[in-house]
Amino acid sequence: MSALSEKLKEFTALKSGVKRLTLTDFRNYKSLRIESEIMPIVITGENGSGKTNILEAISFLTPGRGLRGARLADIGRIRAFDEPDINARAWSVAADILKNDEEHTIGTTLKSFSKEDDEEETLRSYDRRIVKIDQQKLTQQTELGKYISAIWITPQMDRLFLGGTQPRRSFLDRLVYAFDLEHAKRTANFEHLYRQWTTLIKSGCRDNLWLESVEQDMSSLGVAIAAARREQIARLNTFIENEPDDMFPNVRLELDGTIEHMLDLKSALQVEDFYSANLEKQRKNVLYNDYVDGVNRTDFKVFFQKKGMPAELCSTGEQKALLVSIILAQTKCQILYKGFAPILLLDEVATHLDNQKRDALLDKIRDLHLQAWITSTEPQNFAILHKDAQFFRLENGNLF
Ligand SMILES: Nc1ncnc2c1ncn2[C@@H]1O[C@H](COP(=O)(O)OP(=O)(O)O)[C@@H](O)[C@H]1O
Ligand SMILES: [Mg+2]
Repeated sequence: MSALSEKLKEFTALKSGVKRLTLTDFRNYKSLRIESEIMPIVITGENGSGKTNILEAISFLTPGRGLRGARLADIGRIRAFDEPDINARAWSVAADILKNDEEHTIGTTLKSFSKEDDEEETLRSYDRRIVKIDQQKLTQQTELGKYISAIWITPQMDRLFLGGTQPRRSFLDRLVYAFDLEHAKRTANFEHLYRQWTTLIKSGCRDNLWLESVEQDMSSLGVAIAAARREQIARLNTFIENEPDDMFPNVRLELDGTIEHMLDLKSALQVEDFYSANLEKQRKNVLYNDYVDGVNRTDFKVFFQKKGMPAELCSTGEQKALLVSIILAQTKCQILYKGFAPILLLDEVATHLDNQKRDALLDKIRDLHLQAWITSTEPQNFAILHKDAQFFRLENGNLF
């Protein structure tokens, strides 16, 4: 046994994951309760039986908008026409969890608030997700990251390497904030400033000092974002080099972004100065709806290391295997560096993997002794886990 697997074993002797999950008015579930073990959990059922919804509910125990990136108002169970509260949107997910054998409760719920809109003199309602841990309301969702962490693979990610840069960038940023809770705040603040900046420019703002100060804030946040991304890429690349997988192809990860590249050669302060000057130069691009360069444009590039092949030119099955490689490395790094195991949410993960790779993946997951929620329409895919997993079958929203 390698030194690494010894170390992993030491960490995963302590259990982390969901012990009990309760959904209320969440998607297709009026109410659902699951008692789960810290082991692989296989959920099978026909299309539309509610498998992904369960994984999505678990993803709401972590910061952000869940594994579908959904709008909060779309999640509440769509009520039947004859229900008394047909317009209600509230939903909740509650869980008893373990973090290294330590018990905690997490509750998250959607609340609608009304606020007076001064400009329109009307009452506007808006939705917020409230999060409680051990009955205490959290002011920052990111605090959840201290108690629980989830890593997911979804069918949408089968196209991760093909389309535009935005989904890859979000994927990468999620890998980063598993290690660096501040990163989530930084990216959210950056987006907020970016919107403010473009609105100011488009509204014909002539207050140069104001614009400059926004640009300065954007550039210092932007450089921090770029640095955190570089750190995570380096961590994963080093890990993969030292611990190559025996079944999944080794990946090489790269960042393609002006600011990230510049940090190779210049100090953070120099890059900040460049960034803010560059934003000022690009104000006219905003006016003409042209490309604005910066950390909001960075691409995350993945290569099949042995072949030197960019992921987008690999076969569909190879792309899936590369994705699994990244997720496995991230999972192991997280256990080693953060000291507690993430929960894996693997939605239809067997799709595009050949039987050998599928079984190898299930084997590896079992050996990590963590909790993995795995969905499929095909129960026979999981024969290899028959002794080591909890099996559930979903029928019309009921678990058996
Ligand atoms: N807000 C909602 N209210 C009620 N049902 C919903 C809501 N959103 C999605 N659904 C339904 O939930 C069902 C199960 O979805 P899903 O979990 O994605 O199925 P699958 O088992 O194929 O993964 C679908 O039929 C979908 O239309
Ligand atoms: Mg599904």
